[in-house]
Amino acid sequence: MEVIKVKDYQELSKVAADIIADLLKKNPKATLGLATGSSPVGLYQNLIKMYENKEISFKDVKTYNLDEYCELPRSHPESYYSFMHRNLFSHVDIKEENVHIPCSEGSDLQKLCDDYNNQLHNASIDLQLLGIGANGHIGFNEPGTSFEQETFVVKLTDKTRKDNQRFFNSLDEVPTHAMTMGIKNIMQAKKILLVASGKNKQDAVKKLLSGEITESFPASILNKHKDVVVIIDEEAAGLLK
Ligand code: F6R
Repeated sequence: MEVIKVKDYQELSKVAADIIADLLKKNPKATLGLATGSSPVGLYQNLIKMYENKEISFKDVKTYNLDEYCELPRSHPESYYSFMHRNLFSHVDIKEENVHIPCSEGSDLQKLCDDYNNQLHNASIDLQLLGIGANGHIGFNEPGTSFEQETFVVKLTDKTRKDNQRFFNSLDEVPTHAMTMGIKNIMQAKKILLVASGKNKQDAVKKLLSGEITESFPASILNKHKDVVVIIDEEAAGLLK
């Protein structure tokens, strides 16, 4: 695991975007695994700038997102489908048919999970971008999830719902379930890039870098992956010696 310490969120976003841009320059047909949440917004802004400066293109890039809320239609502003279009896809030349986001709209959630899982089996993700939950979740794989888990519907923990309440008017509006890539899917990516910023992530970063691997802290499995880059800012690194 390579750990890159940077000053703040701005630098984190630039360094992370440069890693993705380098990949796209070498392999314009790369397949990216993408994340939502606050952590990647700045890096998406940097990628948009690089696209506008004609340094990179998404014309032949394929993307697979980690997760999506159940109970929200795609048209809802806080669906991850809307998030990705608002923060990246609408600003670059990606083809809509190359965008893959778990679809939780529909009555047969198990079939939707199986469909997304089959798509992931047929894809080969060159780089998977991850944020990390304060409780160590990656995607929406909450503590206690089996490392062998593939795409599934998860009941979100109270902690995760409270952490995400800032995007909604009230806690009641935060969905209770999400569809997420499982840990096994995430581990199949060739390279993993995890970004963590801010004091709220101090504990999670400390646990991740302790090297102990346990299902009670999902991100700890990344210690077993052979190509992981973790970028942390000074606040997130606050508990490291
Ligand atoms: C988002 C995702 C989550 C977030 C995590 C951190 O697609 O899968 O695991 O990466 O909850 O969220 P932020 O970045 O908002 O702190």
